[in-house]
Amino acid sequence: MKYLVATFCLLFSMVGFASEKQFIQCASCHSLEKGVHGLGPSLYKIKDKQAGKQTGFRYSSAMKRSSIRWTRSNLDKYIESPQSVVPGGRMPYSGESDEKVRKQIIDYIFSQ
Ligand code: HEC
Repeated sequence: MKYLVATFCLLFSMVGFASEKQFIQCASCHSLEKGVHGLGPSLYKIKDKQAGKQTGFRYSSAMKRSSIRWTRSNLDKYIESPQSVVPGGRMPYSGESDEKVRKQIIDYIFSQ
């Protein structure tokens, strides 16, 4: 069984699904479709955008006031530790400590 799982993982990463697979952690709350908000705001073309500015989503006041721009490095810090980048923010996600996984997630989001 262990080998079967390992083989599947290898196959997935070989055909380039690795990033998409990692985004599953975010996809329960975020869509990548324009204007489609879930528990979190849509991440459609979020690259280099100002934080907390999408219409139709109610952000925390912490996020609205944050004046962050979603560059690669800011998004990386946010996914690593949402509460240290936006203290008082409302994203219920504890953070991803693996730098490689964060990179895959960001690559996937920025490829849209
Ligand atoms: C359990 C739900 C949930 C999960 C899981 C989650 N988020 Fe969020 N996210 C939110 C909420 C809610 C907000 C709004 C936070 C606020 O207003 O303070 C948010 C805000 C954001 C923003 C700011 C968007 C903007 O318009 O400024 C980004 C970027 C983001 N999340 C990325 C991610 C990524 C990447 C992941 C996966 C690693 C993730 N989130 C996982 C709920 C979630």
